[in-house]
Amino acid sequence: MNSHNANFLKENNARHMFHPMAHAADSLANPPKIITGGKGVCITDIDGNETIDAVGGLWNVNLGYSCAPVKEAIATQLDALPYYSTFRGTSNDAIIQLSYELADFFADDGLVRAFFTSGGSDSIETALRLARQYHKIRGEHGRVKYLSLKKGYHGTHMGGASINGNANFRTAYEPLLPGCYHIPAPYTYRNPFNETDPAQLAQLCAAALEDEIMFQGPSTIAAFIMEPVLGAGGVIPPHESFMPMVRKICDKYGILLITDEVITAFGRTGAWSGSRLWGIKPDMMCTAKAITNGYFPFGAVMMSQGVADVFEGDKTAAGMIGHGYTYSGHPVGASAAIACLAETKKLDVASNAAARGTQLFEGAKKLMEKYELIGDVRGGHGLMVAIELVSDRKTKAPIDKQTPIRLQDAIYENGVMVRVSGPNLIMSPPLIITEDEISQVISALDAGFASL
Ligand SMILES: Cc1ncc(COP(=O)(O)O)c(C=O)c1O
Repeated sequence: MNSHNANFLKENNARHMFHPMAHAADSLANPPKIITGGKGVCITDIDGNETIDAVGGLWNVNLGYSCAPVKEAIATQLDALPYYSTFRGTSNDAIIQLSYELADFFADDGLVRAFFTSGGSDSIETALRLARQYHKIRGEHGRVKYLSLKKGYHGTHMGGASINGNANFRTAYEPLLPGCYHIPAPYTYRNPFNETDPAQLAQLCAAALEDEIMFQGPSTIAAFIMEPVLGAGGVIPPHESFMPMVRKICDKYGILLITDEVITAFGRTGAWSGSRLWGIKPDMMCTAKAITNGYFPFGAVMMSQGVADVFEGDKTAAGMIGHGYTYSGHPVGASAAIACLAETKKLDVASNAAARGTQLFEGAKKLMEKYELIGDVRGGHGLMVAIELVSDRKTKAPIDKQTPIRLQDAIYENGVMVRVSGPNLIMSPPLIITEDEISQVISALDAGFASL
């Protein structure tokens, strides 16, 4: 990067674009960090500072920034066939191969068909729409509502925003989709039941789900959707009993269970999927992000045999899928995903995520003994850990807006990038991260807190 170029970039930073999940005025007043390079688990900014990316891109760069097989697959596919549509009547070789391999990868989740998308929000929208259609094909036209968890994050399309459990992604965009209802999250640190025992809380939340189903009427509900471990909402792992209870309730009332595994699929939780982590089989699973290691915008909604049977067995026009994207089944994304899947399995990143996740979680909990600012530390299931900041540990009074950002900057100065989401510092590093690198992350956190 020559200095002329750097000056140009700094001068024009945020001037001609709106940044997602940011206030436009704030982006102008506090220009974002300009990242210009990535190698291994590290990123480099425009001033040459190299830091460990403990965010892993955005929960997606699971194999790090130097994954040659994925890069080569993209380049090779661009030469052979840079694009072709999969709308009715055509397909491409790469997507056929990927669909075969995904059915194999997700066989233990009972998922046998894929619908391809360009990312997480698309995958959510797809699952929500196909869930309604599934019921219509079966003649249950009244099943149109969706249930989800407060604190859940499901992307920002209109359907996804409507099932999101955080006002930040909702209020400015209202009115949202009618027919979306929310259940308390199994979040032991703060919940309306004042319940701190995870197993008890799981029971209460499951009871709230059943209560809402009875209130709405089971025959009006299409699907319940949840993240197996809530991510952006602050890394909230439910008690191990929760998802099995949810599965039972959904079965009892004929409601489809959609797992939003945009973050949790492909090893992040230490299992190959969040559904497998909890020992349940969903009817649909939304994936994206790590499916291509973040190198190409791509996603897939996986579906069970039961769902496939309904669509494929339909003898009328009701099963015609009036949904899809220009980039559904993009051959470059497909080739990236094939290479990524092979590398993901070869490196057994789920095992490393489990071991390094425990190390990071234990390290973060130790910091809690030192710093009063830390109200709660959550994790324990692979490489997703959150530190919730409070201004008063006793009363759990929320932290001001500036402290997490100051802390993030201080940690960055100590060589590690972490993410701020509300009062939480969130860490979701690449799954190939080493023991030594996790130690560096913990030291940088320590130094950051100490500097406040
Ligand atoms: C659980 C979950 N679902 C959906 C999404 C939306 O994905 P995307 O930003 O690729 O549209 C995200 C993004 O972080 C996510 O974490």
